[in-house]
Amino acid sequence: MQASSLIFGNSLAILLILSSCTLVHSDDDVHVSIKNRLGSGKNLTLHCQSKDTDLGQQNVGDGSEFGWDFTVNVWGSTLFYCDMGWEEVQQYHFVAYYFQRDFARCESQCSWLVSAEGIYGLNGQTGFWEFAYYWSS
Ligand SMILES: *[C@@H]1O[C@H](CO)[C@@H](O)[C@H](O)[C@H]1NC(C)=O
Repeated sequence: MQASSLIFGNSLAILLILSSCTLVHSDDDVHVSIKNRLGSGKNLTLHCQSKDTDLGQQNVGDGSEFGWDFTVNVWGSTLFYCDMGWEEVQQYHFVAYYFQRDFARCESQCSWLVSAEGIYGLNGQTGFWEFAYYWSS
């Protein structure tokens, strides 16, 4: 009697630990992607970084995309910014992910489309592409 309740108690505790780990893990994984839709074969240069990660200078061809995965930090201060440029815009500074702005809007998948008019972002809550930023010099 005593032994079986002990075993049951232990496996319940292990089950609880395992399930909370899985929850935290899936909640914190975010994928950001930036797609070049400039058209006419125009290249996009992209350099994205956070405080401790530098994703390097990228050349993204028309119709291609660049993406990366990361885990949101426990303080909720995770921020990735990108400097981008193309034929008509020499350098544009853009926040690709900021937890406090994006945790609800794009919980695990943050997609951006770069077009000649500006940048569109996919709202994961509504499933709609929203116009987000005009090019400014
Ligand atoms: C885009 O980049 C590729 C690879 O660097 C290059 O070969 C191509 O000429 C570029 N296209 C334009 C339109 O600049």
